[in-house]
This record gives sequence, structure tokens and C-alpha cells, in this order.
Amino acid sequence: MSAHLHTTTRSSGGHHDRDHGHSQSHSRIQIQGVHKHFAQPGKGDSQQVLSDVSLELQHGEFVCLLGASGCGKSTLLNLVAGFEQPDGGRLLCDGRPITGPGPERGMVFQQPTLFPWLTVRQNVDFGPRMAGQRAADYAARADEFLRLVGLADFADHHPWQLSGGMRQRAALARAWLPEPEILLMDEPFGALDAQTRLAMQELLTGIWQQKRTTILFVTHDVDEALFLADRVVILSSRPGRIRQELQVPFERPRSFEDLVADPRFGALKRDILHVLREEAAKSLQSVAA
Ligand SMILES: Nc1ncnc2c1ncn2[C@@H]1O[C@H](COP(=O)(O)OP(=O)(O)O)[C@@H](O)[C@H]1O
Ligand SMILES: [Mg+2]
Repeated sequence: MSAHLHTTTRSSGGHHDRDHGHSQSHSRIQIQGVHKHFAQPGKGDSQQVLSDVSLELQHGEFVCLLGASGCGKSTLLNLVAGFEQPDGGRLLCDGRPITGPGPERGMVFQQPTLFPWLTVRQNVDFGPRMAGQRAADYAARADEFLRLVGLADFADHHPWQLSGGMRQRAALARAWLPEPEILLMDEPFGALDAQTRLAMQELLTGIWQQKRTTILFVTHDVDEALFLADRVVILSSRPGRIRQELQVPFERPRSFEDLVADPRFGALKRDILHVLREEAAKSLQSVAA
């Protein structure tokens, strides 16, 4: 391993703690020795997807999960979301076992799942409206998030009148409106063109720096991970294990121009690509076997 990639200790202490003055005895998210397999239809055996995965997210931390396609990134996110249950180990949010989906854990998918017959505002405030909250309780927050994602002037438009980036911004506002403790994001910018993706990354980190929501963000784009994250976690090829963790050293706010001019960026990127390439080669071997 080269000198640039130093694995961080798992139990990084309270220096990510951004809720000043509150006592927090638990990490925001604790993933402890998690195993997950899926039955394979038509085959006798089952497929081990995650093996002994342990990971902690501190309050307000931005963690990017990198790994080859099929290594179990979405599965891990779905476990934290509570859409799936582990076969072994456990998952905790603020010290409480995760037993199903909950409003303290918001999710953003690669394809923004907006209702086409609702306006942008109706999509954004859909959750609290369906939960029977009074408009007075969420209208100001809806305004704030529409403004933060740059859609204040498009509140009465319908999704089909928006570009892909705008639709994803609406989905982001909707996920953030209930002010979840953690946002789970599964390759949310993967379908966008490079320019739009960069604008979305800047928008996301801008809002995150205000809100300090904990974020677990899945990507297979190394540049994106280094631009966004406090910490990058690389999963091995299937079954997914934590292959490497690294702290991202760049100050915030970050600009991509400054990042690419920083020699540490090139060195980190090269080292991560090397690890990913090793893992991709392993998964090819296991397919051939
Ligand atoms: N609900 C499921 N049922 C059966 N197999 C699944 C299910 N979800 C994921 N898998 C399998 O688990 C493996 C990991 O999938 P996934 O977590 O989506 O990987 P990634 O997001 O890293 O590309 C894949 O082989 C996939 O086919
Ligand atoms: Mg996935």
C-alpha cells in the first residue's frame, strides 16, 4: 500500500460532533458485524452479499461508500434504511436497533421518484402532508428547502417540465424536508451529465454545511467521493467487506478546480483507483470460476 492511503481507526472520536453542547453517547449510525445473503431463485445455494461489515458514522459526518458494481453498496444502504434486515450482526441509529424504515432516515435514489401528477411543492411536502400535519407546520420549511435547492420559482411546475437535475433537486428537498438525522443517498447523481453532477455536488455540500445532517452516500465515482466526503469507505468485491477507510484531508468549502490542482488529490485518486481495480479483478475471477 502506498503512503497516501492510511486506514483510519474505526472508533474515531467526537471530533465530527457538530451538535455543539449536547451529550451524545452514541454514534449516529452503528453497523456491527453485519452479514447479508440472498437466496438465488432456481439455484440451491444462496449468495453472500455482505460479510462482517462494521462501520460507524458520527453525527454530522459525510461518508462516501465506494465499490465495484454488485459488491453490496445498495444492500448496505437498504439495511440502514430498514428496507432489509441483516442475517447476522446489528444496525443501530442513535443507539436504537433499526427495525424498519423511519422518518429519521431519509433516502434519495438514483432515479428521482416524483409523482408526475403533483407539482414540485406537492412532491416536496408530500410526507408531512400525508402524515396529516397542518400546512402551517411545514409550509415554511418547504419554502426554505425549495429555495435551498433553487426551485422556488418552479414550485408550481410539474416534474415533466423540469430537467433531470431539477427533478433530482426536488427529490433532495423532499428527502430533507422532515429534517432527518441521516440522509442515505444511492448514486443520486449517477444519471446526470458531468456539469450538472458538479453543480449538484456543490449544492449538496452547501446545504449539508448548513444543516449538518449525517450523510451516507453511495457512488462509484472517485472524484465525486473525494469532493464530497469527510471519509471514504471502500467495499471489497462480493461479498462486500470493508476493504479500506480513508479520511479526506481537503478543507471546506471545496472547489473542484482547487481539488484537481492539489497534488494530494491526484495521489489519493490514484491509490483508490488501484484498490478498486484490484477488487474488480477479483470479482471477474470469481465470475470466471
Ligand atoms: N432483493 C434482492 N434479492 C436477491 N438478490 C439481491 C437483492 N438485492 C441485491 N441482490 C444481489 O446482491 C448483490 C449486491 O447488490 P447491490 O447491493 O445492489 O450492489 P451494488 O449496489 O454495490 O451494485 C447483487 O448480486 C444483487 O444481484
Ligand atoms: Mg447499487
